[in-house]
Amino acid sequence: MVGKLVILGALLSVVSGGYASPASPKPSNAEPDPAFAVSVTSNGVTYINKGIAAFGLIPSDFRDSIGDTMGGIGSAITLKRGTWKRSQDGTYSGTLLVQPDRGYNVISTIDYQARHHEIGFVLSPYYGAENLTFANAQKTLELKYLKTILHWDRNNVKTSGLDALGVRAAQRGFPQNPDADPQMPIANATYQHLSIDAEGLVENADGTIWVSDEYGPYIHHFTKDGHLIQTIQPPSALLPRTATGELNFTASTDPATGRIGNQGLEGLTTDASGKTLYALLQSATAQDGGLGSTTSRYTRLLAYDISNPHKRPELKGEWVIGLPLTKKGKTQAASEVHYVKENVFLTLARDGGGRGGSDNTSSYKQADLFDISRATDIHNTLFDDPANPIAVNGTLNSTITPAAYVPFVSIINDTQLGRFGLHNGDPDDQNLIDSKWESLALAPCEDPKYPNDYFLFTASDNDFLTTNGVFQGSPYNGGLNVDNQFLVFRLTLPGAEIPHV
Ligand SMILES: *[C@@H]1O[C@H](CO)[C@@H](O)[C@H](O)[C@H]1NC(C)=O
Ligand SMILES: *[C@@H]1O[C@H](CO)[C@@H](O)[C@H](O)[C@H]1NC(C)=O
Ligand SMILES: *[C@@H]1O[C@H](CO)[C@@H](O)[C@H](O)[C@H]1NC(C)=O
Ligand SMILES: *[C@@H]1O[C@H](CO)[C@@H](O)[C@H](O)[C@H]1NC(C)=O
Ligand SMILES: *[C@@H]1O[C@H](CO)[C@@H](O)[C@H](O)[C@H]1NC(C)=O
Ligand SMILES: *[C@@H]1O[C@H](CO)[C@@H](O)[C@H](O)[C@H]1NC(C)=O
Ligand SMILES: *[C@@H]1O[C@H](CO)[C@@H](O)[C@H](O)[C@H]1NC(C)=O
Repeated sequence: MVGKLVILGALLSVVSGGYASPASPKPSNAEPDPAFAVSVTSNGVTYINKGIAAFGLIPSDFRDSIGDTMGGIGSAITLKRGTWKRSQDGTYSGTLLVQPDRGYNVISTIDYQARHHEIGFVLSPYYGAENLTFANAQKTLELKYLKTILHWDRNNVKTSGLDALGVRAAQRGFPQNPDADPQMPIANATYQHLSIDAEGLVENADGTIWVSDEYGPYIHHFTKDGHLIQTIQPPSALLPRTATGELNFTASTDPATGRIGNQGLEGLTTDASGKTLYALLQSATAQDGGLGSTTSRYTRLLAYDISNPHKRPELKGEWVIGLPLTKKGKTQAASEVHYVKENVFLTLARDGGGRGGSDNTSSYKQADLFDISRATDIHNTLFDDPANPIAVNGTLNSTITPAAYVPFVSIINDTQLGRFGLHNGDPDDQNLIDSKWESLALAPCEDPKYPNDYFLFTASDNDFLTTNGVFQGSPYNGGLNVDNQFLVFRLTLPGAEIPHV
């Protein structure tokens, strides 16, 4: 039955040049136009990008149930377990958990309580070659806000997005923490104002979540209703330290060693079993060349054993990833990581161009593949001490083999964007592709003809930019309306193993 429909769809697409009429995209069992396929090979395996299948958006001034402008939501996304469903008519539905970072902060950081939202969706893949209008394109991924879950420190105290000027002393079971109160450390075990600039998100089988952040850069574990359970402190090499070795978690000045300001643990993912948690640093630490844009490509991927909920997660792997460079040799920093199968990951590396960004034209925004099977595992070696850089001034220590990196899915391909009424480059309008794509999620197409096909969801972080914003009841004007854009690609990923969705 399904097979016949697929063949019929393919015939139609040959005859009419596109299964769905551009005037009204209809769900279909058709398949992507073979002319869209772009293949790459990594470690002897061929991976295929079959192009964009859907586009959707949440308007820039949409407000969450708390009453605040809903923005920044593409900092991380994950498919909520148990929600992914393929319908007989060829549409799909599910719920995405989306993670904003630290609120509208163009003027200064704000006291934004960390949170995640649930967004329901209906995906009606469009595989035709003709360009849809922008309005019809949005019917391919219809998004519906469901609810918001706020994140709390211990003792029901709100977390904050304010710059972490304070360092809270270590407490039972918790490391020294980034704190929004400049008076910290204070001998006050009850008052807590944990600063979080959230970037990565993982949902466990038991509904608890892991959130990675840029201040620590830490990984926090929350209950399903958003209460802090525990915090992972990465190796010393990643922690932001002053020249005298003191911790200082501020994002406003760069440390002498450790993560650079606003270049924290951008990516978080688990293997299919949910037993290993992987976190990716956005770009090199200060000692590894991170202070210069042309020396900052060698960043690190950490792996933690989270198999036993009653034991503290243990570092069990650490590898070096050499990020791609611009023509001028600048690092395309990594905004996300997603597990594909043993040793193989997708990462999202990009420049700053696009709507809400530094330029109307983007040159590089890609979901790329990397493979760590031949990379050197440096965990628990002398490189975990900031005194021993992996890359002095950006030159990788010759004893270390980095991951094999293969450019893969371009988010800014003109042909593909055009099919959904989008574009890259002038003019700067609502159809301009957003600047900050920072999230990846995979879901199986469940197409018997293509058992290795997956949908790759990605969403942008719009930096809360709207001319009609609200935070804690007060209006703000971000000077520009940047929608939260979502794209869905169809990929062939042989051997992919993703957590049960
Ligand atoms: C853009 O995508 C098309 C398929 O739609 C492909 O043929 C083309 O090579 C891609 N362009 C670039 C620059 O990758
Ligand atoms: C951290 O550095 C910032 C900026 O230099 C400074 O304002 C703050 O007081 C420092 N915090 C601590 C705990 O030293
Ligand atoms: C802890 O510190 C907070 C903020 O400085 C203060 O409001 C509170 O009274 C203090 N609690 C105790 C028990 O000292
Ligand atoms: C590699 O790092 C080690 C440890 O810091 C150092 O002793 C060695 O000199 C470095 N090797 C090179 C080629 O940089
Ligand atoms: C560091 O690397 C940059 C870029 O390659 C180069 O211009 C600079 O001279 C290097 N500095 C040192 C101290 O090696
Ligand atoms: C479809 O969009 C692409 C990219 O913007 C453009 O080059 C092409 O001319 C458009 N095709 C039609 C038929 O409008
Ligand atoms: C972006 O495009 C707008 C026109 O829509 C133009 O006014 C602006 O100068 C462009 N920005 C840059 C950086 O070129």
